[in-house]
Amino acid sequence: MRIGVFDSGYGGLTVLEKIRLRLPEYDYIYLGDNARAPYGTRSYELIYNYTWQAVRYLFQQGCALVILACNTASAKALRTIQQQDLPSLREEGQIINVLGVIRPTAEVVSKMTTTGHIGVLGTPGTVQSESYPIEFQHQNPSLVVTQQACPLWVPLIEAGEHQSAGADYFVHQYIDQLLERDDKIDTLVLGCTHYPLLLPKIREAVKGRNIRVVAQGDIVAASLDDYLHRHGEINGILTRGGTCRFFTTESAARFRESANIFLRRTISVQHIDLP
Ligand code: DGL
Repeated sequence: MRIGVFDSGYGGLTVLEKIRLRLPEYDYIYLGDNARAPYGTRSYELIYNYTWQAVRYLFQQGCALVILACNTASAKALRTIQQQDLPSLREEGQIINVLGVIRPTAEVVSKMTTTGHIGVLGTPGTVQSESYPIEFQHQNPSLVVTQQACPLWVPLIEAGEHQSAGADYFVHQYIDQLLERDDKIDTLVLGCTHYPLLLPKIREAVKGRNIRVVAQGDIVAASLDDYLHRHGEINGILTRGGTCRFFTTESAARFRESANIFLRRTISVQHIDLP
């Protein structure tokens, strides 16, 4: 059995890379729902429906564990999947689980801040779900969390424009808006798995301020490692061949080309249709 990694598009590749660096021995499947990305501006119902279709597909392909390497899907679909969909499959005897990226991020980041003021950059869907403030409050009720939706960043990245001079304008715009609302922020979470591609520009935008910018890949990888240690029933059925297969709902050629930007190597990809 494999570990599935799901994202609306390419962003989850930033998480997959870190997971495979830390846990290279397992077999993985990456699925990007690129034909229907971005998810960030879509309704709760659509994000849930699309995410559940993808998760089911990954189970059918032999995944026992699926990581929603997408904050938007984690924020809007994870709870329903865990509470409504997984129990009946488990009753049929399947050993399966689905994990998100928001809780592990909040657990780690809540301990990083000195001022107690945290900034979260995310898609409109993630921000509007309030998932990050809720998770941070669980960790430490005295934390002050200020969120900023960055609706143009994912389209910029998916269009391959994240290194262009034009991208600077939109990076500054959202960061400035956030810091105008709270200038005590000392820890800034990239709450969207696409955003690490903008990391150089984001660091530049906060230069001179005492702000630590945190991407999620390493956090999610460490949390998965810990999960597997604690869940022998799943760990025991995962195969160790060190392989990774890539699926996309978009054209395979387009995915291959863009995945190059994220992975800096050429991969083989298969097109699939989700119902
Ligand atoms: N990468 C996804 C996330 O982490 C969202 C991208 C999208 O809007 O589809 O939120």
